[in-house]
Order: sequence, then C-alpha cells, then structure tokens
Amino acid sequence: MKFLTIAIDGYSSCGKSTLAKEIANELNYVYVDSGAMYRAFTLHLMNRGILKDGAYITSQVIDELENTQIRFAFNTETQKSETYLNGVNVEKDIRSSLISKQVSPISAIKEVREKMVAIQQQMGIEGRVVMDGRDIGTVVFPKAEVKLFMTASNEIRAQRRLIELLEKGENVSLDDVKKSLAQRDHIDMTREIAPLRKAEDAIEIDNSELNRAEQLELALTIIQDKIQSLQSVK
Ligand code: DC
Repeated sequence: MKFLTIAIDGYSSCGKSTLAKEIANELNYVYVDSGAMYRAFTLHLMNRGILKDGAYITSQVIDELENTQIRFAFNTETQKSETYLNGVNVEKDIRSSLISKQVSPISAIKEVREKMVAIQQQMGIEGRVVMDGRDIGTVVFPKAEVKLFMTASNEIRAQRRLIELLEKGENVSLDDVKKSLAQRDHIDMTREIAPLRKAEDAIEIDNSELNRAEQLELALTIIQDKIQSLQSVK
C-alpha cells in the first residue's frame, strides 16, 4: 500500500493532535506535532530572557534561531513522541498557558517559519507521516494526499482546554481560556505569512458533537476512500 502524507490543520484546541496521534497509531505512521516546535522555540526565548511578558526584539529572536535545536524522540514508556530543546526534554514545559499566550506572535515571524517549515518538510520527506498545525496542508505539504481541517464551536474548545489546564494544576477560568483562544486564532488567521486557512482540497471535520472514537472513525473512512481512489487511478 502506498504511504500517504496526512496534513491536519485547524484552530487552537480543536483536538487536532489527539486525532493525529490516533491516526498515526492506527496506520503505524509517524506523528509530528508542528506546534510543539513553535512552542519549544518560544520557551527557549523565554529562558534566554529575549522574550519577556510578550515583549521581544525581532532581530534578537531571529539571531537565536541558530542556537536552537529542536527534535522529537519516542518515549517507549509513555508511548508518546516528546519534544527536545537543545537536548533537554521540554514536553511538559511547552504546554503551559504562559507559552500558549506568547507563541503566536513568535510563530508569525518569517524567519522562524522558514526554519520550522524546512525541518517539517525534511521529517515528512518519505511520507508515512501525520502532521498537525496551521499551515501543513497549505504550505508545508501542499501536495499531501489527505488534508483535514478541524473545527469545533468556541464554547466546546474552551471547555476542553480548560479541563486540560485544570488537570495540570493551572489556576485559570473559562473566561481566561476563551480570551486566550480568541487571541491566538486572531493572530494565526491574520498573520502575513502562512495564515491559518483551510486548503481548497481539505475536508472539514467539525468535532463539536463527535467523541474521540467517532472522530477517528470518520477520519479513517476519509483516508480509506482516498487510498481507494488513488489505487483506482493507477
Ligand atoms: O498547535 P499548537 O497550539 O501547539 O500551536 C502553537 C502555536 O504555534 C499556534 O498558536 C500557532 C503556531 N503554529 C503555527 O503557526 N504553525 C503550525 N504549523 C503549528 C503551530
């Protein structure tokens, strides 16, 4: 069977990574969380004192790119791919709401995107990859055989994110989460370079009313249909 490239894009907290991981698991593909790379770089800038309370000097951010090495390694204990920043496992640190609040402006910088996109394209060069993000179907893999675009209602997204943060022990309210999501969506959709948008050939999945199993089933049906249509073209 031909190996595919599967691109999953969508708004923040739409369940993209949950679905992407499950698809990768089902098909024995590699899962790549492209957002984790922007998050890790944001953490690096904070650690270096270049990004403080959301303020930064763009030229310093760009200079710092060459001091940043980001990679993923599969943890056999947790059965998850984890993010490493300059050799240190930062998987937990990059998920905080502090990073979530500051990552979007950093990810809008052209040079930052160029570096991350080049790494992402290298990771997907052999296919057999499921990657989630904002520009995967439009910029990173415009020729991906399967493109999914995830949406969910604002209320549901905020509730899901709130539960995640409360489970991690963060002290946040539903209102904080709603504001932060709206802010991130706005920056991601309106930035000049590679803004979040649905690729023309992407299939939209609104998972507001779907549970995880239903969402996975729907995605696998779309993928199987695609595989069949590719085989019938041969
Ligand atoms: O998917 P996430 O919430 O972990 O992504 C964090 C941020 O990174 C998001 O606000 C926008 C940015 N991002 C991006 O610009 N392009 C991607 N392919 C993935 C994420």
